[in-house]
Amino acid sequence: MHFLVLGASAGGGLPQWNCGCRNCEDARKGVIPPSGQSSLAVSVDGEHWSVLNASPDIRQQMLDNTQLHPRALRDTPVQSVLLTNGDIDHIAGLLSLREQTPFTLFATQDILDVLSANRVFDALSRDKVGRNPIALDTDFTLQDGLSARIFAVPGKVPLFMEGETVQTDLIGEQTVGVRLAGSGKVAYYVPGCAQVTDTLLAQFADADLLFFDGTLWDDDEMIRSGTGIKTGRRMGHIPVSGPDGSVAMLAGVDAAKVFIHINNTNPILQPDGPEHAFVLDAGWRIARDGQEIVA
Ligand code: MLT
Ligand code: MN
Ligand code: ZN
Repeated sequence: MHFLVLGASAGGGLPQWNCGCRNCEDARKGVIPPSGQSSLAVSVDGEHWSVLNASPDIRQQMLDNTQLHPRALRDTPVQSVLLTNGDIDHIAGLLSLREQTPFTLFATQDILDVLSANRVFDALSRDKVGRNPIALDTDFTLQDGLSARIFAVPGKVPLFMEGETVQTDLIGEQTVGVRLAGSGKVAYYVPGCAQVTDTLLAQFADADLLFFDGTLWDDDEMIRSGTGIKTGRRMGHIPVSGPDGSVAMLAGVDAAKVFIHINNTNPILQPDGPEHAFVLDAGWRIARDGQEIVA
């Protein structure tokens, strides 16, 4: 399986339009590479692609990656798009994929309901872009030669649909991970996860490659840096560091491990910093836009 990182960043991207944090300033200055919002493409033959989450930056991401350029007058190598939740960073790119070229859209019924509740998504013609509800824990064909299965991951409803009280460890159709099997290998893509449970660890037992939620270094990062008022867990994201963070909790997973969906405040983005060294020493890679990873 060929993976192409279209966007390594969490919602907002790097730099984020209204952020003057060190990472965002460094990205503006070209000291560290800017990065688009959360999206990963996958292919088994290098010719047909599936896009996992359609970010608001998808137009630029498709421009920057020649693998996704049209090969004929009206055409796309993208056969399908799969959504792992209904957050803006994962669905807004669908609006850029209007213009009458067919592809298949896969998501849980709950996530498809988010699109149905927002009529602007009707701009994506249902005749051309079939909306396929996918049941949890059931294999389906994402593209020829590539089997996929989605599974519930602790999470919450999309930010823009939050009510007065928010359950951040919902197990259901709101937030899912994806298991991909092709070319004799198994890869997982989990860009949002509130908690690593035993169920999740058992799930990853057959992983050759794992792309995992790298949103925040620690739970209080946004509060401490003055960029936000919520903890990571309140946002549905487990931190990278700490005794119950992702590096510690996933230490026993015997796979190539890559952090993706990285928030612009995350200090692992500073190549000379101790946090960056820590995750590399723990055997993780940090996704970069345009990076190709083969499983
Ligand atoms: C998240 O992953 O927490 C969301 O992308 C938040 C947002 O929609 O801004
Ligand atoms: Mn997000
Ligand atoms: Zn920032």
